[in-house]
Amino acid sequence: MCGIVGYVGPRPALDVLVPGLEGLEYRGYDSAGVALIGSDGLAVTKTAGRMADLVSALESQPVQGSIGIGHTRWATHGAPTTGNAHPHRDCDGSVAVIHNGIVENWAALRQQLLATGHEFSSETDTEVIAHLIEERAGLSLADAVREVMKLAEGALAIAVVRTDEPDRIVAARRGSPLVIGRGQGENFLASDIPAFLKHTKNAIAVDDDRVVEMTADSVAITDLDGNPTPIAEREIEWDLEAAEKGGYSTFMLKEIYEQPTAITDTLRGRIDGTGRIEFSELDLDTKIVRMIDKVFVVACGTSYHAAMMAKYAIERWTRLPVEIDIASEFRYRDPVLDDRSLVIGISQSGETIDTLAAIRYAQAQGATVVGLSNVVDSALARDADAVIYTRSGPEIGVAATKTFTTQLVMLQLFGLYLAQQRGALDPGTVGNLVAAIQELPQTVERALKLEDQIREMTTEWSETRDFFFLGRAGDFPVAMEGALKLKEIAYVRAEGYPAGEMKHGPISLIEKGVVVIGVATDSHVRAKTLSNMEEMKARGGTIVMVVEEGDEDDVASVADHIIAVPDSPDLLCIVNAVVPLQFLAYHVATARSLDVDKPRNLAKTVTVE
Ligand code: AGP
Repeated sequence: MCGIVGYVGPRPALDVLVPGLEGLEYRGYDSAGVALIGSDGLAVTKTAGRMADLVSALESQPVQGSIGIGHTRWATHGAPTTGNAHPHRDCDGSVAVIHNGIVENWAALRQQLLATGHEFSSETDTEVIAHLIEERAGLSLADAVREVMKLAEGALAIAVVRTDEPDRIVAARRGSPLVIGRGQGENFLASDIPAFLKHTKNAIAVDDDRVVEMTADSVAITDLDGNPTPIAEREIEWDLEAAEKGGYSTFMLKEIYEQPTAITDTLRGRIDGTGRIEFSELDLDTKIVRMIDKVFVVACGTSYHAAMMAKYAIERWTRLPVEIDIASEFRYRDPVLDDRSLVIGISQSGETIDTLAAIRYAQAQGATVVGLSNVVDSALARDADAVIYTRSGPEIGVAATKTFTTQLVMLQLFGLYLAQQRGALDPGTVGNLVAAIQELPQTVERALKLEDQIREMTTEWSETRDFFFLGRAGDFPVAMEGALKLKEIAYVRAEGYPAGEMKHGPISLIEKGVVVIGVATDSHVRAKTLSNMEEMKARGGTIVMVVEEGDEDDVASVADHIIAVPDSPDLLCIVNAVVPLQFLAYHVATARSLDVDKPRNLAKTVTVE
């Protein structure tokens, strides 16, 4: 949660900070601010509201400096007001701090600081950091930050400037993302690479409990005791254009249309010439793969819906038992884990704190953890025992779209990989399914052609308040995802439910005016889902059926609308079926003039528990 940016170099810092923050607004957008060190000392400008409000404030009161830090906030402690916006200062205004995360022991630290005479001007946890640094005025800024990092508990990515060291930014990381961009005679820092990608492609991912000291010409990283640590710099392969809208009206629409390419990129190099599945980055001993006797999958939100699909795929293809958990619940049910357990943590950002906590818990019980992330060097990637990457490119829209479909594809491939390595399926069956997976970029491309039909259909629903999404087996996660998309971007009540469970209660909510979307692509259960949809129609619901091409006649009598998606065998059709439901949510939301890329109350990366 929250986006941070820092710049030191010859340019006016605002020229870097403002566009950088605009690119990070998906991480939070309830207030924003910058701190610059210039010839007049330290100047801080901040506003409640979005980046546009900060830009207006900077226009009316220009500030200058070629070293600065900036922040866009998603409130945790303290309301989204100008006073609580970052940067935060110490008592005499010589220190400015930005922070992403939560200082968990802030209340105790604040009490100690108040007792020694510090005056606070905000309700935030972050402000304690500024005052703790102020207390260490006799130390270099880097030493002060190292000491403060030892005192502060919780997830922190911070960047600090201090007027007596006007040539540098000191930053630190524990639990929240922090990346350094190394330029020529200038350096950058940010929560995420797109914030500086226009200026440099050389990035350094900062590890936990590291302190970075950055001037225009140098980057030094130490541990919390001041010992230098190695710097691993790598070149970013995607360019800024990939992180911008590319002609679409919203990032979400662009990202929906990028799905065929994202799936192609994700599959690249994973299947050899003979049809065998290979995960070159997966550093997982074959012995462990053979020894596993149980699989757990943990994730949040949309990634959890990918976990639901993974359960069907892995159980069906390997015959290993699979349990799935919403990551924030996992630790509290005391799951039975041991060294024969494989835990798959799914997180597109790789920074979701609930998922990280779940995998760390599993590791402490002796389980082997495989992470599935879209972000290279994310915390999940680094903490897991082995990692698989989706290769969707940056996803800026808050609603997950291309990262979800690539998760589905990767989890299907991983399920087949486990079956291949354990000899659970005959090679011919694996080969046929792998060949069908390789067709998914084309089938998804065809599913994208449904947009006009869906836009037309949704015009009837501008006033509709209640939607149900129903499915069984592999269609159930699709229904859940369809409902989540609609809720999060269109702000309407949408329930994802197992089709067969409606008669046990929720059917009482069905009446004229309720839209019921039935997903029935899985041939194992299609007939039963259809019977359930007849029950919804009999109670007055408007019925939309999502079926495979060729099955339209079977649902014509029940459906008011039919969405026919390209067919793919077994569970693979799920990937095609998701696409029209993304459009459905998108067009209901845009018809209501809502900001689909930045839905209210949400943030792209959720780094609080
Ligand atoms: C998806 O549209 C949501 N924005 C949200 O549910 C998201 O999937 C969830 O927060 C998990 O994110 P992650 O994949 O980065 O861990």
